[in-house]
Amino acid sequence: MLIELSEVSKIYNQGRPNEVRALTDIDLRVEQGSMVCLKGPSGSGKSTLLGIIGCIFPPTSGRAAIAEKQMARLPDRFLTLHRRETIGFIFQRFNILPELTVLDNITLPLLPLGVSPKERRLRAHALLERFGISHRAQFPAGQISGGELQRVAIARALINNQPILLADEPTAHLDTVLSREFMVIMQQLKEAGKTIVIASHEPLIFEHPAIDRIVTVEDGRINVP
Ligand SMILES: Nc1ncnc2c1ncn2[C@@H]1O[C@H](COP(=O)(O)OP(=O)(O)O)[C@@H](O)[C@H]1O
Ligand SMILES: [Mg+2]
Repeated sequence: MLIELSEVSKIYNQGRPNEVRALTDIDLRVEQGSMVCLKGPSGSGKSTLLGIIGCIFPPTSGRAAIAEKQMARLPDRFLTLHRRETIGFIFQRFNILPELTVLDNITLPLLPLGVSPKERRLRAHALLERFGISHRAQFPAGQISGGELQRVAIARALINNQPILLADEPTAHLDTVLSREFMVIMQQLKEAGKTIVIASHEPLIFEHPAIDRIVTVEDGRINVP
């Protein structure tokens, strides 16, 4: 099992007046090569759940094993290392740096890993080619189209060949055509063996045939284990 959460709870600002219980007793198992959609209203806990799966922060209680590693047992710097090797993140507004070139945006996650400049370029060009945006490599990311930007964000999430891909409301700012295209790419990546978790309440995503399972998040709880 690539993602395995048992009785996971997350409390922000625990013990302080602004304490928020964001997740309660989450049991979730996702096997390799599957695609899951976390569906639920705003504030239900989807992003928090992605944060735990994505090794950004550990749960307040419970057990979370991501790619065979128990998060709670990993000291912070190992958690960061594990995240870089295991998780590719696609954010809602893509978090692309507009002044940097497309190439530099894609290779950004490799900088802390000590990958040589040559190897960085090789990997980036392979992805640019795969997504049909090689001709944009030296463009500032702020000057390319929305569809190209989306593919840059996906390429960046794949640059270290991470097995798990997480997307937080990736189509919230995209039109229907680009949202469909996003799911076509996700389906291809799933078929290539990636494990994908997408947080979204858009039918275009959760009704897509490539989604193996819809997990409904409500008030920090989920419907089924
Ligand atoms: N960093 C944070 N500090 C305090 N509360 C937070 C933080 N992030 C999220 N929350 C709260 O946790 C709950 C779940 O939020 P979130 O996981 O962002 O839900 P969703 O992604 O479904 O909108 C909400 O009540 C939200 O206000
Ligand atoms: Mg969210």
